Amino acid sequence: MTTETNIAPVQGKLGVLTPGLGAVSTTFIAGVIAIRQGVGKPIGSLTQMGTIRLGKRTEKRVPMIKDFVPLSDLNDLVFGGWDIFEDNAYESAIHAGVLEKSLLDQLKPELEQIKPMPAVFDREYVKRLDGPLVKKGDTKMNLAEQLREDIRKFKTENDLERLVVIWCGSTEIYIEPDPAHKSLEAFEKAMAANDPAISPSMIYAYAALKEKVPYANGAPNLTVDIPALQELAKEQNVPISGKDFKTGQTLMKTILAPGLKSRMIGINGWFSTNILGNRDGEVLDDPYSFKSKEVSKLGVLDYILQPEIYPDLYKDYYHKVRINYYPPRGDSKEGWDNIDIFGWLGYPMQIKIDFLCRDSILAAPIVLDLALFMDLAARAGMSGIQEWLSFYYKSPMVAPNLYPEHDLFIQLKKLKNTLRYIQGEELITHLGVEYYD
Ligand SMILES: NC(=O)c1ccc[n+]([C@@H]2O[C@H](COP(=O)([O-])OP(=O)(O)OC[C@H]3O[C@@H](n4cnc5c(N)ncnc54)[C@H](O)[C@@H]3O)[C@@H](O)[C@H]2O)c1
Repeated sequence: MTTETNIAPVQGKLGVLTPGLGAVSTTFIAGVIAIRQGVGKPIGSLTQMGTIRLGKRTEKRVPMIKDFVPLSDLNDLVFGGWDIFEDNAYESAIHAGVLEKSLLDQLKPELEQIKPMPAVFDREYVKRLDGPLVKKGDTKMNLAEQLREDIRKFKTENDLERLVVIWCGSTEIYIEPDPAHKSLEAFEKAMAANDPAISPSMIYAYAALKEKVPYANGAPNLTVDIPALQELAKEQNVPISGKDFKTGQTLMKTILAPGLKSRMIGINGWFSTNILGNRDGEVLDDPYSFKSKEVSKLGVLDYILQPEIYPDLYKDYYHKVRINYYPPRGDSKEGWDNIDIFGWLGYPMQIKIDFLCRDSILAAPIVLDLALFMDLAARAGMSGIQEWLSFYYKSPMVAPNLYPEHDLFIQLKKLKNTLRYIQGEELITHLGVEYYD
């Protein structure tokens, strides 16, 4: 099947706005500036380093993704954001302690120009944080209007053609779906009535969508994973995606679990624990924020292993995820996995993983790819949930009645086939019988 979508040209500058100017966001921004200056490479970014095979294997057509689909050039990105702390991007990056000071000093003139706008924030939703740079407003609707004004002002002042918003703020407390989330009408009424079912991240998403700006959700917050905002995204013809960047331990899980399952290896238990000492770790030390993260991390294995279809291999497997705040480690997380597996005739074996990872180093290229792909989706007229971007998320959003696809390799195939689809190239099925006719 081939089609060709009409993709609007990639002219002018693209603004990337992040609610939250913390470790992930500043590592992303500083990284792009460093890459522009030629002092680093965009390792981990599919849009910058990935290729895509087109046509038959014998054709040997394998362009870079960025040459195949029209994506913004890194030189055309302009950064901005909101935070509850007044630190500019240089100060915040120093505080986060991810990148070396010597590198940040080199990038300082550009980084210190990026100053956060006052945030929409409420301690009820992130209990371990408090800061001075917070907007005041009578109602949640009024706060959304202030954010819309920020977006418009940022666009004019920086002479931008288009914008994307990517949530890089802290993880909010776990929120259950509520009647106020069921329709746009109910949602808007709830905003006017300051209903607690409307969290700050939902106010950002609402503001972005009203301004026809795509919204990607890097945290496990419910945010756009509700009918009301999906309705708004469709109405405004704007793409949305989420939730929760897939980085360290969950990335490993979605690489390994599909492999074990493909060989019909059984699993009795998977115990995952982490120590981390950054601000994210501090926020997640609060049980209410941890609950959002836990739900997002736990879902992965059930969907990959499908215990109901493979009871002999996965029925009643035990899955536990722990996150422990341990300040000495800063952003350098350590994640351990103990996996109890069994093989032929049920003989037990074990796998141990000790991943000494750097959370924000793994997350930064995801922010870049999402900014570029969400903008591509908008220009290609793709609105609502972008399931093809599941590749980047721990807890991918999908249409109602669909289960999410967590297998990293299926996600990658889906992403690349979507790119082929929008460019009118043949989809690749890997059948390959034609080579043997
Ligand atoms: N680093 C990773 O690998 C990774 C992976 C998946 C998800 N995430 C999520 O990404 C988010 C950012 O992570 P981080 O390590 O940069 O955390 P961080 O604590 O360094 O940065 C978050 C920033 O958001 C700000 N903030 C909180 N609420 C806000 C609001 N309502 N409006 C504006 N700013 C607000 C905080 O003040 C802070 O500066 C977290 O939710 C984290 O769970 C990170």
